[in-house]
Amino acid sequence: ARVGSAHCLPPQQHQENEIKLLTAEIERLKNFGCLGVSPSLEGLRDENAKLKYRLNFLKKSLQEERSKSVKSMININSCLQEIFGAAIQAAYPDLENPPLVVTPSQQPKFGDYQCNSAMGISQILLKTREQKVIPREIAEKIAKNIPANECIEKVEIAGPGFINVHLRKDFVSKQLSSLLINGVQLPAVGKRKKVVVDFSSPNIAKEMHVGHLRSTIIGESMCRLFEFAGHDVLRLNHLGDWGTQFGMLIAHLQDKFPDYLTVSPPIGDLQAFYKESKRRFDTEEEFKKRAYQCVVLLQSKNPDFIKAWNLICDVSRKEFQKIYNCLDITIIERGESFYHEMMKDIVKEFEDKGFVQVDDGRKIVFVPGFPVPLTIMKSDGGYTYDTSDLAALKHRLCEEKGDILIYVVDSGQSVHLQTVFAAGQMIGWYDPKVTRVAHAAFGVVLGEDKKKFKTRSGDTVRLIDLLEEGLKRAMDKLKDKERDKVLTPEELKAAQTSVAFGCIKYADLSHNRLNDYVFSFDKMLDDRGNTAAYLLYAFTRIRAIARLANIDEQMLRKAAREEVLVLDHEKEWKLGKCILRFPEILQKILEDLLLHTLCDYLYELATTFTEFYDSCYCVEKDRQTGQIVKVNMWRLLLCEATATVMAKGFDILGIKPVQKM
Ligand code: ARG
Repeated sequence: ARVGSAHCLPPQQHQENEIKLLTAEIERLKNFGCLGVSPSLEGLRDENAKLKYRLNFLKKSLQEERSKSVKSMININSCLQEIFGAAIQAAYPDLENPPLVVTPSQQPKFGDYQCNSAMGISQILLKTREQKVIPREIAEKIAKNIPANECIEKVEIAGPGFINVHLRKDFVSKQLSSLLINGVQLPAVGKRKKVVVDFSSPNIAKEMHVGHLRSTIIGESMCRLFEFAGHDVLRLNHLGDWGTQFGMLIAHLQDKFPDYLTVSPPIGDLQAFYKESKRRFDTEEEFKKRAYQCVVLLQSKNPDFIKAWNLICDVSRKEFQKIYNCLDITIIERGESFYHEMMKDIVKEFEDKGFVQVDDGRKIVFVPGFPVPLTIMKSDGGYTYDTSDLAALKHRLCEEKGDILIYVVDSGQSVHLQTVFAAGQMIGWYDPKVTRVAHAAFGVVLGEDKKKFKTRSGDTVRLIDLLEEGLKRAMDKLKDKERDKVLTPEELKAAQTSVAFGCIKYADLSHNRLNDYVFSFDKMLDDRGNTAAYLLYAFTRIRAIARLANIDEQMLRKAAREEVLVLDHEKEWKLGKCILRFPEILQKILEDLLLHTLCDYLYELATTFTEFYDSCYCVEKDRQTGQIVKVNMWRLLLCEATATVMAKGFDILGIKPVQKM
């Protein structure tokens, strides 16, 4: 037996060794995004019992994970990270947290993936041990220590110390077959997490503007992604539905529609109604006084005032719902008013813990690291936006038991939210190491003149008008292309909505949300470049290929099980690898919440597909007769795999593809 091999060890150590191996295996699986937390061992006193218990648990979960992960896609990048992690560990056992960098290669001559850790390790060796080792030498040592695996064909050292990785053809081919047989499935997530997403969140009586549109689109897509990854998502509309503005709105309602309690008031244009009441509030002393009284009565939950408040909210709700219907948004309403009852306790909690200072009658809370304090109670005893956000934070953490909270809110509110989050940590509601609370901020929407997005006359653009204009322009475009001559009226209508709303969403999602973005119908409806119009066209074309070859779904499904996906042509190989990058793209977005990466990827997939299709015949036809002489089934399968991944990508982005366009 080799020295240290398992069977010459005493039983206790044998068990420990086995645990070590299992733990390593489990760690590997975890990096594919699998597996939950191991059980607590607290009740178990006896060391031996503990070991046995853990061993059994690990064995069982390993089995479960193995059976699960056969069906799901593999994140090749983290798979390689695992392998190189192990290689680095073996080559430099006493380096702590060595840098682990694996990326897809930009050019075929650099292989399929690259590991670029050698440079970093060289610097660490120099800094911490004053050892001068050239990165190339380190790269060689790492390469020599690569453990046995199923995905690497060979590695080459290039340049100063890059390790170029060539994947095995049969590995890629098998992954693609599995994708066709099992559908797109992300690696299992381990413990299913509770994710709370705060998005859209417009304000009652004020117009929902393009900023809210961004939040709505990005938030919806974020929810879809987390749901697809297997998490439990709570979609919350933090409506601005409470506050002093309701005093003047109710007072005005009483004047304009005195019988509002029995006859539903035809408010119609709530914006105009808001403006009128604001003007009266600013000019009529008597009215102003009454508005204040109305606030007090509303806050004390007087039924007539609650009714008036509800009537006003309903008008807005209906408007918002129209937009949500157009854009296929799912969200539940939980506005600021929902937290009203909790705010008293929030103030008390901060007071009890000694965090409150009184300033000019206001109750304020300073949070370390933030120059501006939170105002948790105004001098008139009312609560603020700060108070309702503190209450919402606590509720989401302690009642909803959220593991991940995401706020899709414009960058302008960054300081407000960061202060609220820091206050939550300060008072002990959560530990950022355990719970993730993130502000998914986004920039402002600009007009084509690069100024704030406005109508020609300088008013804010009403969202519903914007959506309608999108519809009109999409139809013009389809007619330009004479699609109305080939599609049935129903097909044309489906194409119109798919293009219009798809383009509006995609234009938003395809820009890095942190930047401002320029809203341009012309750009978003262009069917060249990285737009939904281009992708939707590409998708229908791919879907049509099998149809033209008279291959139906059943035949494809059968072929997926029987055919080997040959990847001999350079363009087949490129496409195959591109398709399989889907899980690593999504898993990255689950970390950084930057959805444009998915758009960039889908665009790359579509262009890679076009390259493939231009140089590889899927269906060969007789030049004279046009009759099909040969169907290259494995290529049709590549088309199918591309379409499957694209469809899933569209779904996450909230874009509805159509069969014909
Ligand atoms: N209603 C707010 C606005 O229109 C957005 C609310 C965002 N969410 C939050 N929890 N503060 O600006």
